[in-house]
Parts: sequence; C-alpha cells; structure tokens
Amino acid sequence: MKNITLDYSKLKAFISDNDIHTVINENKELIQDILKPVKENSNDLGWVNLDVMANHDLLANIKEKAKEIREKADVFVLIGVGGSNQGARAAIEAVGDNQVEIIYTGNSLSPNYLNKVMAKLEGKSVYVNVIAKNFATLEPGIVFRVIRQYMEQRYGEAEAGKRIIATGSLNNSSLEILGSNKGYTLLPFPLDVGGRYSVLSAVGLLPIAVAGIDIEEMLKGAKDIKKEIHKQELAKNPAVLYAVIRNILVQKGYNIEILAHFEPMFTYFSKWWVQLFGESEGKAGKGIYPTACSFSEDLHSLGQYIQQGQRILFETFLNLENQGAGFKIPHEDNDNDGFQYIDSKDFAFLNKTAYDATVQAHTDGGVPCAILNVPQLTPYYFGQLFYFFEYACYLSGSILGVNPFDQPGVEAYKEKMFADLRK
Ligand code: PA5
Repeated sequence: MKNITLDYSKLKAFISDNDIHTVINENKELIQDILKPVKENSNDLGWVNLDVMANHDLLANIKEKAKEIREKADVFVLIGVGGSNQGARAAIEAVGDNQVEIIYTGNSLSPNYLNKVMAKLEGKSVYVNVIAKNFATLEPGIVFRVIRQYMEQRYGEAEAGKRIIATGSLNNSSLEILGSNKGYTLLPFPLDVGGRYSVLSAVGLLPIAVAGIDIEEMLKGAKDIKKEIHKQELAKNPAVLYAVIRNILVQKGYNIEILAHFEPMFTYFSKWWVQLFGESEGKAGKGIYPTACSFSEDLHSLGQYIQQGQRILFETFLNLENQGAGFKIPHEDNDNDGFQYIDSKDFAFLNKTAYDATVQAHTDGGVPCAILNVPQLTPYYFGQLFYFFEYACYLSGSILGVNPFDQPGVEAYKEKMFADLRK
C-alpha cells in the first residue's frame, strides 16, 4: 500500500534546500536520538510502541466489547475531553458507520448541551464509556456523575455496571476504584501516554471500534508509516522534513499554521491536530499557533485573509488523492443557471480543481503551502495520519526546544476556577 507523502515543492519561494539541510545538520544528534527505538515504560513515549500499547489481548477485549455494544446499544455516550475524546471523534466522524449513535459529552460545562444529551437518551438502549486519565478533570468527572446516576436509576446498579466502560489509569485512580466497586468494564489509559497521543490505545480504539471501524487496519496504517519514519534517511524522512520545515517557517515569522483540506470529513481530525500541536508546542513563549480550515466553505470566510492579510500564515494541505466517491452534475439542455460549462462533470473533479487553484493562488499570494498527500479516506490512512503527526509533533517540539508532552499552562485557569468553586 502506498504511504502518505509530504510534497514541499511549493515552498521553494519561501525556504531553500540549504535552509532545510542546515536545520537538519544543526539538530542531527537530537533527531537521531529521537528516532532510536523506545524502551518499554519510557515516560511519555508509550505511544511509539504500538504493539505494547495496543497488544493482542487488549485488542481482543476491545473487539469483543465493541461487538456487544454494537448489538445491544442504540446510543453510546462518550464522556471525555481533549486527548480523551478528540482522536476517537476524528476517526468516527470521518469513517464510522451510523449503526450506533455516538454522543459526545463531558467536554463542556454547558447546561444547554447537557440537557440536550439527556433528552437524547430517553427510550434508547444506552452504553457509556467514560475516559479520563487521572479522573481529575472537571468536565468529564462531573458529567459522569450525572450520567452514572441516570444509568443506575434507569437500569438498576448491576445492569448499569455492565453498560459502563471506564478507561483510566489503572494505578488505583479514583475512576478505577469506582469502576471496580460498581462492576464496570475497566480499560487501561496507558501510564506512559499523554491524552493527545493516546488515540491508538484503548482510549481511542474502543469508541472507534463501536463505530464499526476496523481498528486492526488503522493500527496497520500506523505501523506502516512508523516503519517508513524509522528507516528513511533524514533528508527524505517525511516526519523529519515536516518538523524541520515548520521550524524554519516560524523562524521566518510565519507564526500561524492552517491545516487545510477540501474534505469536510477531516473537520474533527483537524480539531485533534490543533490540540496536538497547540498543547505540545505552545509554551515558553514559543510555538506556532495551529488552526484549521475546511475548504471550500472557509474560502468564503477566511479565504480573503489568507490571500491578502498579514503574511504570517502558512498552510499544510491534506490532499485526499482519491476522494472515494463521485457525484455527477445532472445534465440540463438549457443554460438556465449559468453553469452549463460544467454540465455532466463530477463533484470530485470540481473539488480537485478548487483545491489546485487554491494552493496556487495562496502560494502566489505569499502563503507557504506544504502538502500532505493522503491516498484515501480509510481507517488505514487515519492510522498513518495519527502516527505521522504525533511523531512529527514530537520531533518539531523537540527541535523548537520545548517539552512536547507536558501542558503546564492548562493549569492556570483551573487553579483560579477551582479556587472560585470552593469559595
Ligand atoms: O493531551 C492531554 O494530556 C490533555 O488534553 C488531556 O487529554 C485532557 O486534559 C483530558 O485529561 P483527562 O483524561 O485526565 O481528563
């Protein structure tokens, strides 16, 4: 199978081959060190060892539980926030089926949203997956109290216990203790994996499997791109090149990166990507501000700024090479609507033409554009994308000189909020 590929030919007007070689050489030891195999239980790096994190027994458990849920549930409530739900949602919204309705909650404190969620559960067969690494985060923690009580009132404690799956650190965390007492199925949130790097562990894999997505295929994709990342020489290594290019661009004043695509199915993937890079790199007064655009819709909102606003932006396009579907424009004999020039053409052709034109126009307008070619919208390539960006983020943050695995800044609002809540 073809891998995803990085095309940076459009960057020639903005960065030279020499810029790239210089940054690779300056960081050679660091990059080579990162690319070395990772030992088991290495802090923060558990996600690199895919076979350990998603081992055979765990996969068997997940598949069995997902099968039960798909047979018995109308609704699957996914309680989690940030790294605990965004990866699963990225894949589910793009390539999941709709056999079981998936409801996301525990990701806000909005009473309006929670009321809507509760209303959706009425009369349906409900299963719940609460996901929280340490179960100290307010949003999933307190929403789970609401859902737990609902489940117990509706099904009785014993049956509710069978319908709730708790994914958390299995080191005597409060969620583990609660789950053991209540008879929940417990799944591990690996201790050596942070939330935003956890999608290919039980954290992401159970909900993804509930959505009917082939998790083995997804892991195969991740493993295949991993092989390429670890075997390629540095100057041809797509993860190294992407990391290096980002660091060069930020040095040149391009402080904002837009992940752009012409496939709305990538919208939640973009949210996952924004968190991955934002939380990993935005610290110590450094980092590229990550944001995302879904084109062509956002060409009608942000397109103007991108084309002619401050020259501080660069774009990374996810180019879906095979859109996997077509939709033929119906023929009309007369040019009633003024669109006769595309009569009988396919939407896939229109979308591709809009993509080519946008990359060219933005490049001409002074926006550096890198392209990540994605052969198809399938679980296999989602696996490649997840691993590729996680690894590139690890490299990029390390070259930038920050720790890509912590998030000390997130605590600031929490300290203030908890102090106010306890008053
Ligand atoms: O990437 C991260 O570490 C964070 O985004 C966490 O996933 C997020 O804050 C949720 O944390 P928890 O799973 O502990 O509720």
